[in-house]
Amino acid sequence: MRIAVIGTGTVGRTLGEGLAKVGHDVVVGTRDPARTRARDEWQAMSLSLGSYGEVGTGAELFVNATNGAASLEALQAVGEEALAGKVLIDISNALDHSAGFPPTLFVSNTDSLAEQLQRAFPRTKVVKAFNTTTAAVMVNPGAVGGGDTTIFVAGNDADARATVAGVATDLGWTDVMDLGDLTAARGLEMWLPLWLRLLMALDGPMFNIKVAR
Ligand SMILES: NC(=O)c1ccc[n+]([C@@H]2O[C@H](COP(=O)([O-])OP(=O)(O)OC[C@H]3O[C@@H](n4cnc5c(N)ncnc54)[C@H](OP(=O)(O)O)[C@@H]3O)[C@@H](O)[C@H]2O)c1
Repeated sequence: MRIAVIGTGTVGRTLGEGLAKVGHDVVVGTRDPARTRARDEWQAMSLSLGSYGEVGTGAELFVNATNGAASLEALQAVGEEALAGKVLIDISNALDHSAGFPPTLFVSNTDSLAEQLQRAFPRTKVVKAFNTTTAAVMVNPGAVGGGDTTIFVAGNDADARATVAGVATDLGWTDVMDLGDLTAARGLEMWLPLWLRLLMALDGPMFNIKVAR
C-alpha cells in the first residue's frame, strides 16, 4: 500500500522504516524536505521525503505523526482534498509542554485530538492507533512482554478500523483491540499522563499495556 507518513520525528522515521520493511511504499511528509534531509537524524535514512503539499498524491493511507499542537496545521497543509475518503491513522498525542515536564493534555475527557481532527476533516476516516506506546515498540511489538501486549484501534468507520488493524498485524501485533467509535480516542489519549509516570518510574519507554482477560 502507498502510505504517506506525515511527520519526521522519532515516530515518522521509525514507523516509516517499519512500514517500508514489511513491504509498504512509504513517503514521509515534512514542511521543508531539503531542511529535513540536512538534519543529522536523516543522514542515514533512505525513506523518500516530500513536502506536505505533495505527499498526498497517490497515497492510499495517511499517518499523522506530527506534534499534537501542530497536527491541524500540518494536515491542512497536506490538504483536505488529498485526505478526502482516505484512512488517517492518528498517532498524535495532545501534549502541552508549556509548563515543563511532565506535559499536560490540552484536550481531554469530553473531547480528544483525534475527534478535533475528524471534525476538521469530515470526509477523512480518522482511526486513533499506536499513540499508546513508544515508536520502537510500534514497529517491534516483540521488544516488550515477549510480544504479548495490546494495541488499540478506534474510529467511526468499521472498515477503516479493520484496515488499521491489518497494518498493525503487518507490523507483528497479535493482540489488536477494536474499541469502536472515535470517542474511544479520549481514553487512549488520557493514558498519556500514566504513560509519562511509568516512563519516569521505569527510567525508559520500553513497556506497553497488556489487557489481561
Ligand atoms: N515519540 C514517540 O515514541 C511517540 C509515541 C506515541 C505517540 N507519539 C506522538 O506522535 C507524534 C509525533 O511524535 P515525534 O516524537 O515523532 O515528533 P514531534 O517532535 O512531536 O513532531 C515532529 C513533527 O511535527 C511537525 N511539526 C512541528 N511543528 C509544526 C508546525 N507548526 N506545523 C507543521 N508541522 C509541524 C514537524 O514538522 P517538520 O518535519 O517540518 O519538522 C515534524 O514532522 C506526537 O504527537 C507525539 O505525541 C510519539
